[in-house]
Formats: sequence, C-alpha cells, structure tokens
Amino acid sequence: MAWRSVISREYILPERVAIFDTTLRDGEQTPGVALTTDAKIEIAKALDDLGVDVIELGFPTVSKGEEEAIKKITRENLNSKTCVLARANKLDVDKAIECDVDWIHIFIATSDIHLKYKLRMSREEVIEKAVKIIEYARDHDVVVHFSAEDATRTDLDYLIRIFKAVEEAGANSIDIPDTVGFAVPSAIKIIVSTVKKNIGIPIAIHCHDDMGLAVANSLTAVESGAEIIHATVNGIGERAGNTSLEEVAVALHTLYGIRTNIKLEKIYEVSRLVEKLTGIIVPKNKAIVGENAFSHESGIHVHGVISSPQTYEPIEPEKVGRRRKIILGKHSGKHSVVELARRFGVELTDVQAEEVLREIKHRGDLGQKISDVHFLEILTKTANTDDFNRRITIRSISIHSSENTSVALLHLNILGESYVLAGYGRSEVEALLNIYRECLKKTYGFNINDYRIWLSPSPRLFSESEISLSRDGEEIVGKGVHLSPLIAFTQALVNALNQIMEKEGRKND
Ligand code: KIV
Ligand code: ZN
Repeated sequence: MAWRSVISREYILPERVAIFDTTLRDGEQTPGVALTTDAKIEIAKALDDLGVDVIELGFPTVSKGEEEAIKKITRENLNSKTCVLARANKLDVDKAIECDVDWIHIFIATSDIHLKYKLRMSREEVIEKAVKIIEYARDHDVVVHFSAEDATRTDLDYLIRIFKAVEEAGANSIDIPDTVGFAVPSAIKIIVSTVKKNIGIPIAIHCHDDMGLAVANSLTAVESGAEIIHATVNGIGERAGNTSLEEVAVALHTLYGIRTNIKLEKIYEVSRLVEKLTGIIVPKNKAIVGENAFSHESGIHVHGVISSPQTYEPIEPEKVGRRRKIILGKHSGKHSVVELARRFGVELTDVQAEEVLREIKHRGDLGQKISDVHFLEILTKTANTDDFNRRITIRSISIHSSENTSVALLHLNILGESYVLAGYGRSEVEALLNIYRECLKKTYGFNINDYRIWLSPSPRLFSESEISLSRDGEEIVGKGVHLSPLIAFTQALVNALNQIMEKEGRKND
C-alpha cells in the first residue's frame, strides 16, 4: 500500500492486475532446462493452486512430447486459463487449436531488425500476415493474445498501426514484449501510455531481465496502463530470464496496493518446486525467495528485528511462506546469541553471552560459518548445558559410489550406544536420505519436507545444509556446516533428529 496515494497523484492505478505465467514456456526456454511431462503437470497444478490467471503451457510446435504434455494438462481442468504459443502461421495455430486451450498466444516480430534479418518481410507484409492469422484463429472461436515480438525496439508509430490492425481483426488482448530486455522504465512509460491511448483491448507487458530491469519495467507498464503482466517463477527464462512472478506480485500488493489473484503465502513453496524440477538454483540473495531474503546476521539489525521486525524487514516473512532467520557470524551481537540460546531452551547470563559471542567472532574471523551444531557445541562448553543436542553424534560416514549406485554407511553414537546404518540410492545424498527415512519411519513418524545443500565454491569455504521435517503441522529444521557437503548434510539430518529426541524427551519427562 505504501506508495498508492502518492503515485495516484499522477497515475491512474488499476485495482487489480492479471498474472500471465510463462514458466512452462519462456521459463522452459532457459538454457539447459527441459521438463518431463510429469514435471510440467506438477508445475501447472502448483501454478493453478497459486492463483495465476493464465498459464502458458508451452509451444506445441516445438516437439511431440511438448504437444502431448500440453494436452495432458488441459485435461486436468485447471481453474487458471490455459494458453499456448503459436507463430503467425496456420500450422502453429492449428496445432494450438488441437490442444484445446482457452487462449492462443500468437506472435510475430515487428522491429526493423527482426524484419530485415529474420523474417525478410516488409512492415506491410507483417501487418497483413498478423491480421490474416488472427481472423483465422478467431473464426475457430479461440481467445487470441497477440504479441509484437521486439516491440520495444519497434518504431512506435508502426507498433500502434499493427496493434490497431490486430484489434480490428478480433484480437482479445495485446502484449508488448521487451524481447531483449532493452527498455528502461521511462521508455516503457511512453510506449505503454501511447498504446493505451490508441487501443481499447487489454494490454500485457512481457519483460526480459538482460539489464536487471524486468520487474521495474513491468511495474512501470502497470503505472502506464497495462493490466496483464507476463512473469515466470524465480524469474527463469531466455538468457537472463523474465520478470519474476514472486517479486512483481509482492511489489504490486505491498508497494502499490494492487490486487492480484496470487496466494502470496504459497509463493515460496512454488519457487522451491520450480527450482527442484528445472535445476535452476535460486541465488541466496534473490528477493522474496532467496535463502537470505529474511535472514539477519549483523548485531544492529538483529537487535532491531527482535524489538520490532518492521525495523529491518519490508514485509513479514510469513506472508510469503518464509520464516525469519538469525544467522550467527562475525557481525553478530549479544542479542542474537541470547535470543538463539533461548530458542534452544538455554538462558545465558551476560558474561556467558559475551563468552559465546567472543568464540563466534573468533571462528568468523577464521572464515568459518556457525551452524546450529557449532552453536550448541559452544553453548555446551560455555553454559554447561548437560550434553544438550548430543544424544546422537556422528562417528564416521563412509560412502562408496559406482556409476549408478551409492552405498552409505553411517556410524552413529545414539545415547552412548554404537550403531552402523546402511542405505542405498542413485546418489550419495539419496543413500543418506534413505538411511534417514528409515530412522524416521521406525521412530517418530516425521516426513522429510525439503532439504538443501549449498556446495562450497572453493575448498576454503564451508558447505551448508538444511533439512526440514514435519509431522501433523509441527516443523523441525536441522542444519549443518562442514567443509564436506556430505558431512554438512549428515550433520543437518542428525541435528534434526536430535531436536526431535530432545522434544520427545521433554514430553516424556
Ligand atoms: O520475449 C519475447 O518476445 C517472447 C515472445 C514470444 C512474446 O517471449
Ligand atoms: Zn520472452
């Protein structure tokens, strides 16, 4: 809501903006990404659940598999409108019609660069081709969304001419793609407001992030009259990607007070799913969905956030399905130490807190990261907590891998007894996970929700791992940090198990 009244002095802001999601089309065009049919179905269902208005399912002409996946998804009868991409020719449009989608997204390039070097057509020929194909599609009773590819590098008078022609031919909405991420907000303002003055049908904006301006340009388009935003989850897409759905949706709600149909609290879950299925890792510092988006380390910030989260958080993490994290390191202050110790049930005196902080800063100066495991170890030494979190300790891990199988042997000390557990899998992580699943199944009935391993980019840095477990709404997050990613992962597993044992122990006391 923050800026609505200020911006409304100069702009007419809409009450609501529609989200056209193109994760399964432009997002899948991310170099190196190819989704299986099952993965596409899973993502389409998650997007539907998230509340996107339109899902662009793909480009049926690309391959047989793509066409079949699209047809399978349309049979799921999702609430979101479905759409596919088609070039401005009969072959593509017929294929799109066969897919039985609600919308067809027809595109043709309009910039002189594309006309000269790609299409080898005149401006008039392009208008004629666009009009003919739109009339053809409309005769088949489908909703047509028309994109003028490379619109932002197209002569503006010509752009208006082609948009007027396609509107007359029956297009239901038009889209202004910034195909190579070349526009700046002030240019978008001129382009979109000029189109708005000349066109009566809804206007969409489709931005690429080559200069890191996709979200800013999309928001400016809305200020200037666009009612539909094309976006992808995690901002994936061609080259540097597209407008991030999560960033634009949160900005619209929070900064402009503009509604979308997006259920913000589901954003993180969908982001994680897309990360997992596409293999495109979300950077830690990415807005809203990045690991650090709601993490605080510096003493000043942690102090502020503990007093009132508003001091250093623009939105409540829970609003987007996240949780606040306090990270320990060399920038930490006493407030972090006291607060985190309290979360582990330990009340520290002032002197103890200072001692713990000194050790944390010392380790930070050595370039080390402090995980829960290390923090508890320091607490145990300093505050004489009676072997807290030490019910299970790792004695050794050995992993043997061949091309297709891995075998893990985990030697643990559980309440003073020695146990060797074995697990098999297609990878080292799967072998360890299988041991862990077995432990959880046999003991506490927790399920593994999610896990992450951040590999160290150089041998001097530490790998980190987190695992999240849940049982009937109760959540446990285990953490590990180690030079070896597999030991960090095992530490996270064991740390979570220890927390469960601690909790169960307290219940039985
Ligand atoms: O970036 C682009 O121009 C596109 C079009 C197909 C809309 O993705
Ligand atoms: Zn694009």
